Amino acid sequence: MCGIVGYIGEQDAKDILIEGLKKLEYRGYDSAGIGLLNDDGVHVFKEKGRISALEAAIDRSVHATVGIGHTRWATHGEPNRENAHPHQSASGRFTLVHNGVIDNYEKLRNEYLAGVQLKSDTDTEVIVQMIEVFVKDGMAVEAAFRKTLSLLHGSYAIAMIDAENPDALFVGKNKSPLLVGVGAGFNVVASDAMAMLKVTDRFIELLDEEVVIVSRDHIRIMTLAGETVERAPFKAELDASDIEKGTYPHYMLKEIDEQPAVIRRLLSAYQDESGHIRLSDDVRQAVLASDRIYIIAAGTSYHAGLVGKQLLENIGKVPTEVHIASEFGYNMPLLSKNPLFIFISQSGETADSRAVLVQVKKLGFRTLTITNVPGSTLSREADHTLLLHAGPEIAVASTKAYTAQIAVLAMLAVEAARAKGIDPNIDLEKELSIAANAMQTLVDQKETMEALAKEYLAATRNCFFIGRAVDYYVALEAALKLKEISYIQAEGFAGGELKHGTIALIEEGTPVVAIATQFHVNGNIRSNVKEVTARGAKACIISMEGLNEEGDRLVLPEVHDALTPLVSVVPLQLFAYYAALHRGNDVDKPRNLAKSVTVE
Ligand code: F6R
Repeated sequence: MCGIVGYIGEQDAKDILIEGLKKLEYRGYDSAGIGLLNDDGVHVFKEKGRISALEAAIDRSVHATVGIGHTRWATHGEPNRENAHPHQSASGRFTLVHNGVIDNYEKLRNEYLAGVQLKSDTDTEVIVQMIEVFVKDGMAVEAAFRKTLSLLHGSYAIAMIDAENPDALFVGKNKSPLLVGVGAGFNVVASDAMAMLKVTDRFIELLDEEVVIVSRDHIRIMTLAGETVERAPFKAELDASDIEKGTYPHYMLKEIDEQPAVIRRLLSAYQDESGHIRLSDDVRQAVLASDRIYIIAAGTSYHAGLVGKQLLENIGKVPTEVHIASEFGYNMPLLSKNPLFIFISQSGETADSRAVLVQVKKLGFRTLTITNVPGSTLSREADHTLLLHAGPEIAVASTKAYTAQIAVLAMLAVEAARAKGIDPNIDLEKELSIAANAMQTLVDQKETMEALAKEYLAATRNCFFIGRAVDYYVALEAALKLKEISYIQAEGFAGGELKHGTIALIEEGTPVVAIATQFHVNGNIRSNVKEVTARGAKACIISMEGLNEEGDRLVLPEVHDALTPLVSVVPLQLFAYYAALHRGNDVDKPRNLAKSVTVE
């Protein structure tokens, strides 16, 4: 979703800002802009659409050593030039970018901005106009900035420049992520460290309701009340090469290929000296103390959660429920006495999940976040964190984070069993290695999936994925992958459920992909395939070695039946990838989607 960058130093700011914004492109956006401050005043350039459009609009002759930049994913007001950031105060003195949503902006506008003509439909403009009103009333800029932020209800990460002060960036945050990057003779601001990794790897984390005055050689952090806060920078563990595509045409393909390596990395991250998987005592204790686990997540992470439930119940013998984050808060089920809430989130920033985290923390319940991003909001705010060690996932469609989530949930399930003195009945260390090898075999068979994508999806408007037991959960994920990047109408169904209504949609040539990795339902899913082929469907069965039959279009290498999703999802990710590629879609940045969904 929206991204923020800022620079104050000696070099020309515009290229640093544009490069930074490009690194945030993957998060999804529909307009972009920068504001530059030099001796002639403030220069704002903004455009609807891609950053390339913004680059074309920038006057290259403007040289400035201070600036802010923004990519916007529209929430208040349509995606157009007027609503793009930066926004300016009436006199043009203050220029501001903002991520997040201000819930009380209409009330604030009525209360403080009666005489001000707003130029956009955004909640953001209200912030910058209020700062100017307070300054005109006689307040110092810093005090006006802090006062305005303290009146905002909602989420924000803000960076502002003052045309009358070329020595400061004014920064503040609440609930939306924002970092200050530390340099020598310069400092930067970024909503994600990735944006500024090229110029620094040292960052200072900001906490909610903090304000920072960033100058070229000084960073002053304070609370909204103005009390000074001291905080040392941390070194970002990211490597700039982690966020490059290398020789791959798309990040998604690179990330699909990285999956076997991620599983191996996870194994070494969570193994003790004797080679056994060992999570921290705190996590072990939290699971042991709980009588029921509630998994809260969205999208692909929710699908990983469904697989996790199966693992936690079958291996760990812990009753587990999985809930869609955006539903849970408004429709909370009857909870058990000692629940443990597990938040699964690749980004660690999903607002729907965070809303539940805040709610259940207020109720006093224990929380654990499984995320790929150390220091993310969900990680910081939960009692415990398990990291996915997947490396940055840039493509909007999640792939390696999904398989890493399942692997971590399997580890948690085994820990739960061991903590309770139950035999987990799986040598997880060995079985995960076998699964990683099987995944490697599949990523090496790209031509097969490319051919199948051509054969089944070239001329279709819809596609069904069916499976039973854990294969059903993979069918849901396969359908989501296909929908989000190919724009083909796709649905995942439990094999036995089709005949209760959806089978009406099957007509001559409708593609139906069936996943068959589970011995106990192999006969049933094959009967479901017969039901649909009898009605004209073009079926494609993906089965597991040992369960395969003549005519199956792909046979997966055999893995432990608890871990089949790690393997069966790989060809289906490739299926979606090639379908999108053949349709000429922007695979890494599909329309309307954002990587990190920071609004509810
Ligand atoms: C799909 C996808 C989304 C995310 C969802 C939750 O490929 O990436 O469905 O899974 O938006 O995001 P996180 O995992 O960051 O909480």
